[in-house]
Amino acid sequence: MPSLISGTGRYLPEKVVTNADLEKVVETSSQWIVERTGILERRIADENQSASDLAVPAALAALEKAGAIPEDVELIIVGTSTPDMLFPSTACFVQSKIGAVKAVAFDQLAACSGFIFALATADRFISSGVYKNALVIGAEVYSSIIDWTDRTTCVLFGDGAGAVFLTAGESGSGVLSTHIYSDGSKSDYLSAPGGGSVHRFTADMIEQKKYKLVMHGNRTFKVAIKMMKEAAEAAMNHNGVTPSDIKLVVPHQANKRIIDMVAKQLGMDRSVFYMNIGHYGNTAAASIPIALDEAIEQGRAGKGDLVLLVAFGGGFTWGSALIRL
Ligand code: COA
Repeated sequence: MPSLISGTGRYLPEKVVTNADLEKVVETSSQWIVERTGILERRIADENQSASDLAVPAALAALEKAGAIPEDVELIIVGTSTPDMLFPSTACFVQSKIGAVKAVAFDQLAACSGFIFALATADRFISSGVYKNALVIGAEVYSSIIDWTDRTTCVLFGDGAGAVFLTAGESGSGVLSTHIYSDGSKSDYLSAPGGGSVHRFTADMIEQKKYKLVMHGNRTFKVAIKMMKEAAEAAMNHNGVTPSDIKLVVPHQANKRIIDMVAKQLGMDRSVFYMNIGHYGNTAAASIPIALDEAIEQGRAGKGDLVLLVAFGGGFTWGSALIRL
């Protein structure tokens, strides 16, 4: 019993921060940001908005499109690396805020691949018959871990949430496959090291900004292209499909140049790849479900079409999902 995507939803905070705004904060230029990343602007959450606050409207929109109500939901998984708290999980906060009283709720931590990991997990629960449906959410408030004095990272990220509601469907449709991967040996390429049991909350840790995101951008860039290409190929090979069968690719939105290179290396037309990084920046685990919701709304893919999702993130983690809508 595969899982069908019965509804999608998204929520972006209202506040827009443009490249021109960032020119006033760090030594950068809008031209550099656009040329090197494709980003024009990003949304930033209010200081009192948590990841679950962003997740709730996205989740409710996905449920509404599916014609479902919170009381129907059996499983909630939130992919996030900027959770409300260390614990309880952000998914528990979402469960409570939407009143999904029957649902089991937990988080999945795989940085920018968090949504694909959550989708893979939820799909297994549905295909094995344990649950009949699942809310799968990516929700992030990266503005809370960004060092706003570091020009190499602060221009890249944004906040937001996206959600899909999965229901048990018929074979030949829905989530056809998921492939997920990890390589912990590269953990220091992209991390937010402070606040856990390694760098504990001390005045020193905070002064050294260890709770902020750090990234070796250039090294990460190269690995991201290679792994996203390989994950996309794994999905196509597993299902015996070729690039010409794919109606739409929804890649993680980290950098326009990464998306261009992945398309090129797969020998696929760039127009098949959905891209909204210009307006939102990198929203980590939220980027794929936000983009999927927008793409479906715009008619870029519809019922019966093959859609390929592909992600890469800190860990390193990466993966893909092939879906027949
Ligand atoms: N404004 C102006 N100059 C900047 C800058 C900014 N915001 N950020 C970096 N620079 C400078 C660097 O200091 C460097 O200067 P130098 O040559 O004098 O030392 C120069 O630009 C080139 O830096 P580099 O890091 O080599 O640039 P890049 O072409 O690799 O682009 C990223 C940087 C971050 C945009 C790119 O590496 C990237 O997108 N990496 C992967 C991001 C990613 O995928 N992250 C998450 C995975 S989910």
